[in-house]
Amino acid sequence: MYKYVDYLNTYGRIMQFNKNKQEPFHRWYPFVEGYSKEFIQSIIEEIGSVDLTCLEPFSGSGTTALELQNIGVKCISFEVNPLMYLIGKVKLENTYTIDDTKKWFEFIMENREKCKITELQSEFSTLYEGEKKKKWNFDKVSGLAVKKLQITINTISSEKYKHLFTVALASILLDASNLYRNGKCLSYKKDWENRPIDEKLVFNKFDDKIKHEIIKDIESFQINSELNTVSKINNIHFLYNEDCRNAINTKVDDNSIDLVITSPPYLNSRDYTDTYMLELKTLGFTKSAEEIRELRKKTLRSHVQIKWDDTATVDNKKLQRTLDKLNKASLNENVWNKSIIDMVRLYFVDMYQLFSELYLKMRNGGKIYFNVSNSAYFNVLIDTLELCASIAEQIGFNVIEIRKARYLNTSPQQQKAVGKLLEGVLILERRD
Ligand SMILES: C[S@@+](CC[C@H](N)C(=O)[O-])C[C@H]1O[C@@H](n2cnc3c(N)ncnc32)[C@H](O)[C@@H]1O
Repeated sequence: MYKYVDYLNTYGRIMQFNKNKQEPFHRWYPFVEGYSKEFIQSIIEEIGSVDLTCLEPFSGSGTTALELQNIGVKCISFEVNPLMYLIGKVKLENTYTIDDTKKWFEFIMENREKCKITELQSEFSTLYEGEKKKKWNFDKVSGLAVKKLQITINTISSEKYKHLFTVALASILLDASNLYRNGKCLSYKKDWENRPIDEKLVFNKFDDKIKHEIIKDIESFQINSELNTVSKINNIHFLYNEDCRNAINTKVDDNSIDLVITSPPYLNSRDYTDTYMLELKTLGFTKSAEEIRELRKKTLRSHVQIKWDDTATVDNKKLQRTLDKLNKASLNENVWNKSIIDMVRLYFVDMYQLFSELYLKMRNGGKIYFNVSNSAYFNVLIDTLELCASIAEQIGFNVIEIRKARYLNTSPQQQKAVGKLLEGVLILERRD
């Protein structure tokens, strides 16, 4: 029913964050779940104007706001996760100077050596090595090295540089730990007990990050600023550490948005709180299990880490048919999992709320570029692209097309039943 357009060649390459890993500023934190800056550039080229106000409800590492800032477009963005929010903020800051960056870097190198800490404590029992523990995220030596850096960074008197070096530290934490990111979650590295990471290695990783990426990028930015070739827009002023489902309403004026570019959490049970747990715990973004729970509650309902006590649904035939199929299939397979079906239902309740807010905030003729993928549970396809299209249409948007970007692998059993999962970009237009 919807028009599908083949963008496999063009979008296939640029829908992944990988490409950003060589790009100034974007590379400061190795994010996994983002798209590349080329995706943003391709949209602006297509629209043919920079006289726009953009909205990004799910900022992540800040790709949208940063790339738009580089070309002089205002972008209001929201990010619920405090680590991601800080990463976005640090990358959007455009008043660093090379002299101050070098000065504070030398301060860290000098003072981390003087830090006399010998013991590690945490609310989280598996964070640091200790007696009677079977597993831990940091050995004592590497944990102490990270702590020395953290304590020193926290004594920096300028908030801006404190944040900059905190993000640099966040970016090397996985390397300094016994963990690696394994798709949705964190797993222990192979043979982690026999691969000690010493203080020198941790300090070297941190120093390399600063010398080879951060200082270089700030240096070239400063040269361009002096040549007056950088834009005056600073999207840092429009980035909010809030749940977009509630905050768009109060922070964005009605009829003010020309363009929405975003990629929400996919309906794949990934909880970003889990994925970035090491950074959240180590750097004190979340200080207790209760704070982690509170953060999870504020995230879009795309995971089952919280038992959602909410019976709401969207009155949409397509969604109802999918939920019926899921109910039936989960019974047949004898793997009744109510939480998964609740998650699917509530994900689209959240989408309904989001599209309703966007409808209110967008100008007539404004466009949405919505990057999401389909999912499957109990061998039933959840056609997220079409379900979002249908819900947006119900609210009043015109569905222009669905652009095919990539096909994602799923489990062999699921793949046999539903095929590979389409990742795409849904294009919507607001029309009165
Ligand atoms: C797919 S990522 C976005 C990636 C981004 N396009 C980039 O390139 O970095 C989705 C983000 O949405 C955030 N998120 C989840 N629920 C949210 C909510 N209710 N409000 C705002 N952000 C939320 C997650 O923390 C995650 O960082």
